[in-house]
Amino acid sequence: MDWLTFFGRFHVLALHLPIGILSLAAIAEIYYARKSEKERPDFLRAVWLWGTLSAAIAAGLGYLLSLSGGYDETTLERHLITGIATGVVGFLCWLVFGLIKVRRAGAVYTLAGLQLLLMGITGHLGGNLTHGPEYLFEHAPNPVRKLAGFGPRRIARPAVTDLNQADVFLDVAQPLLELRCTSCHNPSKTKGGLLLDSYENIMLGGDTGAAVVPGDLIASELSIRINLDPEHDDFMPSGGKIPFTEAQTRVMDWWIEIGAPAGGTIASFAPSPEVSAWIAAALDQPTPAVSLTNELGLPKLPALSRDVLMELESLGFDATPISETVTHLDIDFYRIGSETITDEHVQALLKARDHIAWLNLGNSGLTDAQLETIGQLPNLLKLDVSNNPVTDTGISALTPLPRLQTLNLHHTKITDNALPVLDQLITLEQANVWATSVTPGSAATRPYAEIATGFSVPERDGSSK
Ligand code: HEC
Repeated sequence: MDWLTFFGRFHVLALHLPIGILSLAAIAEIYYARKSEKERPDFLRAVWLWGTLSAAIAAGLGYLLSLSGGYDETTLERHLITGIATGVVGFLCWLVFGLIKVRRAGAVYTLAGLQLLLMGITGHLGGNLTHGPEYLFEHAPNPVRKLAGFGPRRIARPAVTDLNQADVFLDVAQPLLELRCTSCHNPSKTKGGLLLDSYENIMLGGDTGAAVVPGDLIASELSIRINLDPEHDDFMPSGGKIPFTEAQTRVMDWWIEIGAPAGGTIASFAPSPEVSAWIAAALDQPTPAVSLTNELGLPKLPALSRDVLMELESLGFDATPISETVTHLDIDFYRIGSETITDEHVQALLKARDHIAWLNLGNSGLTDAQLETIGQLPNLLKLDVSNNPVTDTGISALTPLPRLQTLNLHHTKITDNALPVLDQLITLEQANVWATSVTPGSAATRPYAEIATGFSVPERDGSSK
């Protein structure tokens, strides 16, 4: 049982007694300063005495509390001195006004005023000790905070639930610095002239210059210091304080390497799986930040079953996963001889519905009716339906495609009327419409429309005028 701390904690309770009693005494003394001796109540003497005694008790308990440690030393020292001074001045007041009965207004104003002032300062320092210097102004309007010497108010971050969406500075770098560094690098304790309490201050650097040079670990004093041998004089945190874990060190370095950004989601900086694991470990998160989308920006999917792949192959499709890490498919249809693609073929594609990213059905005899089915492939990025008898009607079936980026339409029967339909495909980047009835004038108004092939523009009997 820790008796000292047990009693010490009563300081927080007891300190209100001297505050109440001594302010009452001081205010009353000032009030009666210019009144006749007869009017001044006699019990004021007792009030000064009780105030002084309670101040002594509060100071004693405060001392016990200070032994439990963990307080900012400079503030603690000042609080102790002003606290004792409060008691001493209280005692003086009792002596001067109560016993010696000095009634000179000047003396009253000076002593009583000093008493009130000391109590105010002691209380404020005490508050800073328990709540930190920023407590009082934490919720103050920003201009008021600026006057008091604090930066703009910090908006509390919600707890990280999805690492991908966590902010690289606000949820990663900043909390780590707050955990291990800001106790010595803050506005009231600026060791090495370096403040690590806000993005701007980190970037300002310290006495020896820049602490963080975006993208340059070798030049970043902060990285150098945390990577030293813990026994080294320059190692940070200094003074044998708990250092960063291996993962936390790596993550701070990663943040500097990606350019020390002031914000942005983790996912947007595409950390490698290794870095993801460090971030998770550094932030005590159970699962690493794994990107939910693959290189193509498509939702990650398990590989398509072999049975479906085999079935597609047997129908004459060439279906292959796009890469080792992208399970989505690149599918081509090769027509053999004069044989055209059938409804059975097109329906079979629906079995790989979510997996089809690239689809080449060029020169397959594809019809408008069959395009209805193609319009149901949610992850389609590239579609080639060139050299087919498809018309504007068929193209309108493609508008539900949410991700379509490239569309090959050359040598089809489409006209200018297809363009308003294509306009609805907001993700569309490129549509090859050469060798169709689309007029160059209309195509020119569409940034996605490619009317020239780049190597040859087939003439279509005068329609390209
Ligand atoms: C116990 C107090 C303490 C803690 C905690 C602490 N530092 Fe320091 N830091 C100092 C002192 C003292 C200096 C100045 C002496 C020196 O340069 O070694 C300093 C200096 C620095 C400097 C050099 C500033 C300059 O320009 O000279 C950097 C960078 C630094 N600290 C980074 C950190 C980082 C990062 C952390 C957290 C991992 C940290 N410190 C934690 C006390 C501390």
